[in-house]
Amino acid sequence: MKRVSIRLRLTAWYVAILFASLSLFGIAAFVVMEKGIEKSVDETLEGQVEGVEEVMGRVLQAEPGRLRDELREHQELREQADFLQVCDQNGRWIYRSRLMTSHNLPVPATANYAAYNVESNGLPLRVLVREMNGSQDRYRIQVAMPMDDFYDAVDQFKWVVLLLTPLVLVVATGGGYWLSRRALAPVDQITRATQEINSRNLAKRLDVPRSGDELQRLSQTLNGMLGRLEASFNRITQFTADASHELRTPLALMRTTTEVSLRTSQTVSDYRESQEEVLVELEKTSSLVEKLMLLARADAGVESLQRLPVNLADCLREACKDGQVLSETKQLSFQQKIDSSTLVVEGDSQALHRLFLILIDNAVKYTRSGGSVTVGLTGRDGSAIAEFRDSGIGISTQDLPNIFDRFYRADKARSREFGGVGLGLSIARWVAEAHRGSIEVQSTPGSGSVFRVRLPLLQS
Ligand SMILES: Nc1ncnc2c1ncn2[C@@H]1O[C@H](COP(=O)(O)OP(=O)(O)OP(=O)(O)O)[C@@H](O)[C@H]1O
Ligand SMILES: [Mg+2]
Repeated sequence: MKRVSIRLRLTAWYVAILFASLSLFGIAAFVVMEKGIEKSVDETLEGQVEGVEEVMGRVLQAEPGRLRDELREHQELREQADFLQVCDQNGRWIYRSRLMTSHNLPVPATANYAAYNVESNGLPLRVLVREMNGSQDRYRIQVAMPMDDFYDAVDQFKWVVLLLTPLVLVVATGGGYWLSRRALAPVDQITRATQEINSRNLAKRLDVPRSGDELQRLSQTLNGMLGRLEASFNRITQFTADASHELRTPLALMRTTTEVSLRTSQTVSDYRESQEEVLVELEKTSSLVEKLMLLARADAGVESLQRLPVNLADCLREACKDGQVLSETKQLSFQQKIDSSTLVVEGDSQALHRLFLILIDNAVKYTRSGGSVTVGLTGRDGSAIAEFRDSGIGISTQDLPNIFDRFYRADKARSREFGGVGLGLSIARWVAEAHRGSIEVQSTPGSGSVFRVRLPLLQS
């Protein structure tokens, strides 16, 4: 089904509501007008009846025989209202005016008061009947008033409403359509501008109208989204570029080594040496590829971590064994201060082992021979805190905010010399955050660094 545009829908709603309101107004005005006319006509008719009653009261007391003549005289004085007839309780006419005689209106026998509409010889009439008690007899007084003039006026009003309504509706449709077009024009503009944005011009932003309304908020929200998309797009592009760059160096090295060894005639031990060089590069490359894969899987959200109780002290002691070996080769003093109480977190022991190893590896790697590395574990406020302190080269304040970024190395030459590619801390931070924890760092260039990992303890 083809969707109707907001503009058309708004106009349709607007016109429908206007039509309903106009109809309601028309009907209400019509009813109020009709009832109002009837009410004032009834009041006039009651006034006439009262006048007749007064005459009759007076005559019935003084000389009842002159009732008919007195009524005629009274009526002749009031020419316009020539609809009057009076009968007694047996239906005998006491008086009948000329117009009443010609229309021959019957007197309803039952009610002692009634006001109603009748049509007589094509003339609409409002009729009022009232009973009057004389000293001996009861009389029925009936008066009427022609309503044709009033009904003409009402009819005229009805026609004005009926003719004006479609006219108003046509004008309103045009106006409504124009208004909604005007109101929605910025949306079209936003749509066009958004359509123009693609991966090559992600830095482009929408113009934000300073209207303080929903459209300003919409543009700002879209710009915010574009900003986030641009940042993550740039991160991915940078990541791919860095990854290819890191892969190129060992590949080139392996290629040259192999080419040289194939081109020249060499002894077995020369071949062996070049094969060993290739093997070292291959190991570096596979470790890099493995790190890249891990980060890519983490980004895609498919790297699944176990959620099992892990004894942190055991896990950290295990990582320290490797740390011990590493520091021995570098002649560092390596100390462990691991709390004897059991600190259990929910998580993946392999990933946590990897996290600890990355930090121990860095501490050892960036500390000169003769320095010291201390690993500690304590529990505080529902969290376990693992601390990795070294007396190494430290990190400058400019580098400190960036060291968790992918491929970031404070000193590229030195780090590569140690075999680092700058992915260790990115992985470490991901593992910590995947365990609802965090990593923080303090460092003084020249005198050493402290990395602290905070992990929430498993509530027993
Ligand atoms: N304990 C530390 N002392 C001094 N500098 C450090 C320390 N830990 C990390 N850094 C600095 O932070 C950078 C990033 O560390 P990261 O572990 O992410 O990468 P890397 O050690 O260079 O390579 P990788 O760990 O991927 O083999 C390092 O290159 C180094 O400059
Ligand atoms: Mg590292």
